[in-house]
Amino acid sequence: MKRLYRRHFLLNILLLAILTITALLLTGCSSAQHRRIVRIGHNQSTSHPTHIALTAFQNYINEQLGDRYIVEVYPSELLGSQTDMVQLTQTGAIDYCIASNAILETFSKNYEIFNLPYLFASADSYHHAMDDSRITDPIFTATQKAGFTAVTWLDAGTRNFYTVNKPVESPADLKGLKIRVQQSPTNIEMMRLLGGSATPMGFGDVYTALQSNIIDGAENNEMALTDNGHGDVCKYYSYDMHQMVPDILIANNAFLQDLSDEDLAVFEKGYRLINQIQRKEWVKAVEAARKKAAEQQKVRFLYPDQAPFVEACTPLHRSVLENNPAIRPIYDAIQEYNALYPTITE
Ligand code: GCU
Repeated sequence: MKRLYRRHFLLNILLLAILTITALLLTGCSSAQHRRIVRIGHNQSTSHPTHIALTAFQNYINEQLGDRYIVEVYPSELLGSQTDMVQLTQTGAIDYCIASNAILETFSKNYEIFNLPYLFASADSYHHAMDDSRITDPIFTATQKAGFTAVTWLDAGTRNFYTVNKPVESPADLKGLKIRVQQSPTNIEMMRLLGGSATPMGFGDVYTALQSNIIDGAENNEMALTDNGHGDVCKYYSYDMHQMVPDILIANNAFLQDLSDEDLAVFEKGYRLINQIQRKEWVKAVEAARKKAAEQQKVRFLYPDQAPFVEACTPLHRSVLENNPAIRPIYDAIQEYNALYPTITE
């Protein structure tokens, strides 16, 4: 498996080298040769809200600063899995990538907080908390030593369990099932507490793993059913609503430091644009995904009692806070939003 990743990684480096040489050859004879190519990688399709928002950012920067920068967006794991892309962003081989908050906890344990199951009482609480820089700043700036910084967040909805052929109505139904989770210790521990067997793997490998019965199910938002085809294989989607895990746009530190104050201000406006557009598109995309999954893929949506799931996961809040007391004020600030927006609205 490791060797496969390594080969994948080397192929990505080769691809980047070819892209760079091609870009140099193409721009060599024109004034564009002084333009800095800014590369952004992500793992979603070109119709996904994330790609739509990044394309808007690309157009905005190219319009505003086109004499100095050319933004290029690489979707669909073209540059490798999210883990590969984070490494490429760390070294500066690319400038930005979108990473799920889940995999960032191995770079700073402050990120663990947003991976906690049942952290947010409602989507409203989640959105308000993520928009509050008192909450996000200590997390987004926690990876200075790792070589990158988070510059904005994107909505990735609510994560729920879905299975090939066994409906999940309670944690007891997860017993004996192999469920794909993201590569994060918090997610593995969550699955242990819920009684299932965690199988960590990258997003791009999940469809084949489901189809070949390597796993019995996975957990994700509704877009995974349609956009990634998981609903062609999995026929039960259970709204246990265990997590709201944001996606994070991270940037290489050296790239950020090299920007002049004026250019930085334009890029920062661009990050706000990404956040606004992606969240607006997200609402429409999830509605369309639910409809398509139900009508075309014949996925059955289930609404189990969430209380036993919540109860099983509660010890994780305690252990994460005990292991990292520095995040306690952030946790408490989130509880204030939970008190203000207590109803599940999504
Ligand atoms: C969502 C999320 C991605 C993540 C994926 C996963 O699609 O938006 O960032 O990679 O889940 O489960 O791996």
